[in-house]
Amino acid sequence: MPITQDAISTALDISWIRSQFPSFAEKVNGYPAAYLDGPGGTQVPQRVIAAISDYLKHSNANTNGAYATSHRTNETIAGARAAMADLLGCESDEVVFGFNMTSLTFAMSRAIGRALRAGDEIVLTLLDHDANFSPWNALEESGVTIRRVAVNKADCTLDMSDLEQKINSHTKLLAVGYASNAVGTINDVKEVVRLAHSVGALAYIDAVHYAPHGPIDVRALDCDFLVCSSYKFFGPHMGVLYGKREHLKRLHPYKVRANTDESPYRWEWGTLNHEGLAGITACVEYIADIGRKMRPSGTRRQAILAAYDEIAKYERALCERLIHGLRDFRGLKVYGITDPQRFHGRCPTIALRIDGHAPLQLATKLGERGLFTWDGNYYALNLTEQLDVERDGGFLRIGLFHYNTVEEVDRLLGALREIAGG
Ligand SMILES: Cc1ncc(COP(=O)(O)O)c(C=O)c1O
Repeated sequence: MPITQDAISTALDISWIRSQFPSFAEKVNGYPAAYLDGPGGTQVPQRVIAAISDYLKHSNANTNGAYATSHRTNETIAGARAAMADLLGCESDEVVFGFNMTSLTFAMSRAIGRALRAGDEIVLTLLDHDANFSPWNALEESGVTIRRVAVNKADCTLDMSDLEQKINSHTKLLAVGYASNAVGTINDVKEVVRLAHSVGALAYIDAVHYAPHGPIDVRALDCDFLVCSSYKFFGPHMGVLYGKREHLKRLHPYKVRANTDESPYRWEWGTLNHEGLAGITACVEYIADIGRKMRPSGTRRQAILAAYDEIAKYERALCERLIHGLRDFRGLKVYGITDPQRFHGRCPTIALRIDGHAPLQLATKLGERGLFTWDGNYYALNLTEQLDVERDGGFLRIGLFHYNTVEEVDRLLGALREIAGG
C-alpha cells in the first residue's frame, strides 16, 4: 500500500516547509496552486526573496570599489561561492557563476573545444537535455567526431554497454546528465566518470535536474566539471559550474582583456547577478535548515547532507503513491522506471501519455484546476525523438518535490481521472 502523509511527514517537517513558500498561497479558479512544475523551475522560500531585495536595498554596487556597498557586494559574492562549495562538496575557488547552465556549458565547450583537433572524439547521450548536447555537438564543425550513446527504450535508462563501446583512446570528453529532466532516470555518473578517466577523457556532468533531489559530492564523483542551476533548487535564475581547480587554471576561456586571469573569476564575464547571488546563499541555507532540524549541530555541509537524506525518502514515498495511483488508468503509459524496487534509480519526475489526450490538452485542463504540470519535450529532444512522441506533443510531466504533499498527488490523480476518464 502506498504511504500516507502522516506516515511520511514525521522526519521532514512538511508544515514548516510549506510555511516557507509564499507562492503556495496562490489560487487558480478557486483551487490552491499545486506546483508540480518544479523540473522547469522550483518555487522559492521567503528568505530568498528577502535576500534578493535586501541586497538591492543595502548593498547594490559593482565589485572592488573603495566604499561600503561595493565591499558588501564582494562579501555577497564570496558568501554565495562558499555556500555553493558546501552544496557541491568542493572549495570556493572551484565555483563559477553564470547566467544559466546552458550559457556556462556553451562557454566551457568553446574553451575545451579550442584545444581539440580533428580525430578527437566526444561522447554524448541521447537521454540528456539539449543543453548538455548541442554545445558539444557543435564542435563537429571543427572536425571532432561526436559519438551518441543510446537509451534503453523499455525503462529510459542509459545503455551503459553502448557507452563503454563508444569510448576509446581518442575520447577527450564525456558529457552525461546526472538525472533526466524528462523521465527522471538517475545515471550511474560515478561509473561514467571512471570510464572517462580510464581513457584520459574529461567528465562533464549536468546535475541541473538532480540537484534538488539528491546530494552532490564532486570529490567522491571525481568529475572534472558539474553544472547546475539555482532556480531548480529553490533559488534565483542563475547557473553554477564546478570545475576542478587544475582545469579552471589550465584551460583558456574567451574573455575580455581587462578581466583578471585569476581563477575562478576568469570564467565570469561582465557583471554578475549580485542580487541573485544573495539569493543563492539563502536557498542553500534553506536546504541546510531542513537538515538542521534533524541534525542541529555540525557543519553546513553536514546539514545539507542530512536534508537530502530525508528529502529523498519523502520524495520516494510521494513517487510511489503517484505511480501506484496511475497503474490502473486505461490507455496510460508511464515512461521510465516504474518498478518500486528500482526507485533509487529515478527522481520523482514522471513522464506519461494517455491515449486520445494530447499532453498540452491535459496540462491545460490540469492548469485550470490549479495543478501546474508541463507538456512537451522540455528540451530532452533526442529522447522524445527516440521514443517517437515528439510529433505528438511529447509527454505530460509531473514533477514532485519535497514541498509537495500526498494531498496534491491525490488531487492530481482525481483530476486526471475526471479529465481522461481513467
Ligand atoms: C537537465 C537539465 N539540464 C540543463 C538545463 C538547462 O538549464 P538552464 O536553464 O540553467 O540553462 C535544464 C533546464 O531545464 C535541465 O532540466
